[in-house]
Amino acid sequence: MIILKDLRKTYSLGGEDVHALDGISLTVYDHEFVAIVGASGSGKSTLMNMIGCLDTPDEGSYIIDGEDVFSMSEKQLAILRNRKIGFIFQQFNLLPKMTAWENVELPLIYQGLPAAERKRRVEEALARVGLAGRMHHRPSQLSGGQQQRVAVARALATKPSLLLADEPTGNLDSKSTGDIMALLKELHGQGNTIILITHDDDVARQAQRQVRIMDGRIVADSGDGFTKAAAAGSGSGDVFPETAEDLRQSVDLSDEGRRT
Ligand SMILES: Nc1ncnc2c1ncn2[C@@H]1O[C@H](COP(=O)(O)OP(=O)(O)OP(=O)(O)O)[C@@H](O)[C@H]1O
Ligand SMILES: [Mg+2]
Repeated sequence: MIILKDLRKTYSLGGEDVHALDGISLTVYDHEFVAIVGASGSGKSTLMNMIGCLDTPDEGSYIIDGEDVFSMSEKQLAILRNRKIGFIFQQFNLLPKMTAWENVELPLIYQGLPAAERKRRVEEALARVGLAGRMHHRPSQLSGGQQQRVAVARALATKPSLLLADEPTGNLDSKSTGDIMALLKELHGQGNTIILITHDDDVARQAQRQVRIMDGRIVADSGDGFTKAAAAGSGSGDVFPETAEDLRQSVDLSDEGRRT
C-alpha cells in the first residue's frame, strides 16, 4: 500500500514559479489498478518520479508498505526500487544489443539472483506476456508492441509489489495499445498493483480507478479499492455511490464493520 501526503514540488524558471505538484495526497491499496490522467504539463511525470522513488518533493511524505521513503538514503532507495517497483516507460528502454531474454534477465542480475532462478523467472515472464517464441530476438527484430511486452516482462520478472507505467502505450498503434492494456488488465486480475500514467482518457477508462490531475492537483478520483470493495459488498453492483452520505448509508464503515 502506498500513502502520499501533501506532496509539493515547485520549479523556478526565469523568475516564475511552476507548481508541478501542488499538494497531492493519494492512497493506493494493494491490488488496485489506478490510472493517473491529465493534460500535458499537469504534473504526471513529476508524480511518477516521486512514486518511483526517483525524485523527492520540496514537502510531503510517502509511505510504501510501512516504510518512510523520503527519509531513506540513496542506497536504501536503490534497494527499494529494485525490490518493490517495476517500471514500464513510453520508450520501452530496452538495451538494443541484448536479446529479449537478456533484457529481462538484467535486473535479476542486479538483484543478485542465482542463474537457475534467473532462467526460471525470465522464461516465466516472457511466456506470461506471450513471447515464449521470441526470447532470442533483439529489440530491432521485434514490433513496437512486442518490445513493450518485453519491457513488461522485465518489470514482472523482479516480482515487484508495484508496477509503474508512464504512458506505456504512447508510442504504440491502436492494436498494440489494446494488447498492452489487455495484458495490464490480466496482470491486475492476477493480483498485481498497477499505477498507469496517461493523457489518454480511453486508456485511463480501462483501469479500475481514475485519478485526474490538473496543474499539480488532484481534481477528481473515482474512488479507492477500499471504498469500491465496500460499495460492491453492499449489493449496489458497479454503481459507485455519488456522495460520502450515500456510501455511509449503503455500507457499514464503522470499525465494527471493517473488522468483519
Ligand atoms: N526540471 C524541470 N524544471 C522546470 N520545470 C519543470 C521541470 N520538470 C517539470 N517542469 C514543469 O512542471 C510541470 C509538470 O511537468 P510534468 O513533466 O510532470 O508534466 P506531465 O503531466 O508529465 O506532461 P506530459 O504529458 O507532457 O508528459 C510542467 O509545467 C513542466 O514545465
Ligand atoms: Mg510526462
